[in-house]
This record gives sequence, C-alpha cells and structure tokens, in this order.
Amino acid sequence: MSKRLTTTAGAPITDNQNSATAGERGPLLMQDYQLLEKLAHQNRERIPERVVHAKGWGAIGTLKITGDISAYTCAKVLQPGTETPMLARFSTVAGEQGAADHERDVRGFALKFYTEEGNWDLVGNNTPVFFLRDPYKFPDFIHTQKRHPKTNLRSPTAMWDYWSLSPEALHQVTILMSDRGLPVSPMHMNGYGSHTFGLWNEAGERFWVKFHFKTQQGHAHFTNSEAAEVVGQSREGYQEQLFGAIEAGNFPKWTLQIQIMPETEAEKTSFNPFDLTKVWPHSDYPVMTIGEFELNQNPENYFAEIENAAFSPSNTVPGIGASPDKVLQARIFSYADAHRYRLGTHYESLPVNAPKCPVHHYHKDGTMNALGQRSGHTDAYYEPNSISESAKEGGLQEPPLKISGDADRYNHRDGNDDYSQPRALHDLMDENQRTRLYANTAEAMAGVPEDIISRVLVHYDLISPEYGAGIRSARSKLSEMHDAAD
Ligand code: HEM
Repeated sequence: MSKRLTTTAGAPITDNQNSATAGERGPLLMQDYQLLEKLAHQNRERIPERVVHAKGWGAIGTLKITGDISAYTCAKVLQPGTETPMLARFSTVAGEQGAADHERDVRGFALKFYTEEGNWDLVGNNTPVFFLRDPYKFPDFIHTQKRHPKTNLRSPTAMWDYWSLSPEALHQVTILMSDRGLPVSPMHMNGYGSHTFGLWNEAGERFWVKFHFKTQQGHAHFTNSEAAEVVGQSREGYQEQLFGAIEAGNFPKWTLQIQIMPETEAEKTSFNPFDLTKVWPHSDYPVMTIGEFELNQNPENYFAEIENAAFSPSNTVPGIGASPDKVLQARIFSYADAHRYRLGTHYESLPVNAPKCPVHHYHKDGTMNALGQRSGHTDAYYEPNSISESAKEGGLQEPPLKISGDADRYNHRDGNDDYSQPRALHDLMDENQRTRLYANTAEAMAGVPEDIISRVLVHYDLISPEYGAGIRSARSKLSEMHDAAD
C-alpha cells in the first residue's frame, strides 16, 4: 500500500502538483503553506562542505580481529575474535564536492568503528606520512592547495613556492607524484593511521603504535594521461566503482597491520617517532597482521550516512590513546570544532555518528538536541549530585603521559633530516616508477616561475642527485614536446 504524503508536521497533502492561487490567472495565496515549506526546504538543502576532503565516497562494513595483541592494549575492539561494525569514507583533499574523482591528490581514509566502549575513529590517509610536522602550518599549506583568491584557480606556483620553503613536505610530495598519487579506485589503495598513536594495557603499560590497512585488491594506479581520459568519460569513477562492487557482492577488504614501539624506546630512536613526516623503518619495527575489515553494505542515503558522517581523531576508546605527535594533538581540537560548525552542536546524536553503546553526559541543550538530558536522570543536570541513578565516573584510566621540557616556539625545521627518508623511498622505486615520478613532478611544475623551481630543485638534489637530474630531464622533454606542438 502506498504511503500518504504529508507536510513535515504530518498533515495530509492532497495535491502535490499545483500551488493554491486566486483563480487560474490570479496571484498565489500566502496561506499555501505546502508551497512555502517546499521552497523553504529547498533553500536549506546544502550544508557547508568540508573545508578539506569535501569530495568523498563511503560504505559500511565490519572489522574482525584475528591476532592477539592483548599484551599491548586492553581496547575491547582489538581483542582476538572481536567483530565491530564500522563506516569508511574515502576522499580527495583539495577538490570541492563536485571535483572529478580521478585527480592526483592524497586520498583520505577515514574509519569509524562503533565499539562497545564508544566510537573509535581512525582518520587517516592513503599515505603513511604528511606534508608537515607542525600543525601551525596546516592552514597555510591548505591555502596553497585550494583556489587563488583572485584567479579563483588552483595555483601550482603557490604549491611549489610553499614546498620549496618547506622541505619537510618532500617525503609526502614524492609519494603524491609517484604512482600512489593516483589510485584507480578506493579499493586499490592502502590506508594508514599515519600518526603515532598510544596503546595501553590493563597493567598501565604504554606502547607506541602505527596502524596500516593494506589493500587485498592489490595496488592499481593511473598515469596522468590515463586519468585525463577517464575523467573525460566520467567524473564519478570512484563512486561508480565502490558502489558498483558492493552492489555486485564483490566486497573489498583491507588487512590490518600494526608496528609497535615500547614507550621508553621513543627517546632513543635516531629519528623523532612522533614526527608525521617520517615512517618507522619496517626492519626495526616489523609489521604484525592483526585482522582485516570488509566493506559489505552501501549506505541507503548518501547525505544522511556519508555527508553527515563526522570523523574525529578525538574519538578514542580505553586502551587506545594519543601520542606527543603535535599534528595529532591539533587534530584533536580541529575536527570536533569543524563538526559543530558544519553539522551542529549535537552532531554526535545523528544516527551515523551515534555510538552503538549507552551514552551518558551532562551537556545540555543546543541545536538539534532531540534526546533531552542524557545523564540518566531528569533531575541530574549538574554534577556532582546525590541522585543515585545518574551517571557516575568509571572505567579504566589511561596511564599518565611522561612529558618534560620548556614551553616555547621551537623551530621545527632546525636540525631535521628531511632528505634521508624520501631518498630511501626514491631508491626503492624501479626505473619505470622513477621515470613516472619525474614526469609527474615536471608536469605539476608547469607554469611555475623559474626562481621557485630552482629553489625546489636544490632540495631534490639533496635527496639524491639522480632525483634532481631526473626532474630536470623530464622538464626538458616536456618543453621539447610543447615546442614541437607549437
Ligand atoms: C593540523 C593538521 C590537520 C588539520 C587541522 C586538519 C583538519 C581537517 C578538517 C577541519 C577537516 C574537515 C572535517 C569535516 O568538516 O568533517 C579534515 C578532514 C579530513 N582530514 Fe584532516 N587535518 C589535518 C591533518 C590531517 C592528516 C595528517 C590526515 C591523515 C593522516 C588527515 C585526514 C583527513 C581526512 C581523511 C579527512 C576527511 C574525513 C571525512 O571523510 O569526513 N588530516 N581535516
């Protein structure tokens, strides 16, 4: 039986085709609330898009833990045999909501696990490192990725100007310009928590940890020209592939691996293990496979379940914590703040964000508070109180973080080795991969003033003279091709 159409207040609508007017040739009636409501709703259909990572694709799935890491963490979600429902959202960083999917860019890899002890969000990328190690630089960096204020176009000059003055970005820029910078689909890329996080066990011992999600579909990438052809056919390739695979029952999977470092070892490593521009060498910190996740359900409604999804590094659960990584610390502020602006104060009550475990707190009122007082008792709207059924503190306490040092603005570029790790990555690539790396870098530099290019090439030479020479030669080939075409 078909359902009866109503206004949002539930009153039956008998005619959804025609406005109420004073006769066929007469004006509209103010009292036609159906029309007013319809127009007013349309005006409010858009919410602010994410300031970064606006274009995205998502699905629902399950995380299964197979390995035993109970010696490192008491997190229930990471105990052997545990299955946890989850949500994944993949994204590009710079493009707006209508951007083409197959653009060269870092991909977001955001995961929300609905654990029995609250939501655990791992808001990572498809790269194990990032462009910066001091969050103070994030708004500047993002300005270079978004549109120029006057031309309203993206500006390679701004990007390379910034990078030429920020050598800590070169490791991530190398990944961006390599094959991994343009995956064929969300299924064909790895995900990384990227930061160093903390794990702690019931005995109160802390370990540092890196999380990696390795694609079981294999890596597949497009060259720039292949991508240009694909975008000419469809700007929505990722959505089509992810949605299509899940509808067809070809559920994509990723293997969960971790690297572990005992807490006190962090003082002794040759590199700063809390520096987001660095990886931990696998030879020193071998990867351990501890489980996998599968995406097996498409959302019923993209807006409600993916656009409304609010991922935040502040969402952790007992047994998993932060680390002194400065960028992670800043992200703990930034995401929840962004959600209060983008979605509203009570964004955690939206069905896609709501934990699947009991929630009790003393926050009060505010936009879209549909659930009333959540302390467990109507009269308990302050704390401490003497009402026995109201929410009380409980649960395991995270061990104290031992920190020392004088508060100051330290120069994060002083004495840092920004070249060894990009060199190791460059050395790992075979000849074909390097040729594509040089060509992609040269193409990305098109139109950038020579003084900026010279400055950035100094850094590439410091990574490896072969890397610098490869980019120079790829630039010469590009300009010969352009000359020949003229
Ligand atoms: C200081 C550094 C950073 C700041 C301040 C920052 C801030 C933000 C903000 C405000 C959003 C939009 C949130 C929203 O409106 O829903 C966002 C999205 C995102 N960021 Fe960052 N970000 C930083 C670094 C990073 C890093 C290092 C990673 C990955 C390792 C990352 C991954 C993501 C992802 C995946 C999303 C999209 C989440 C989704 O799918 O909804 N960001 N970031």
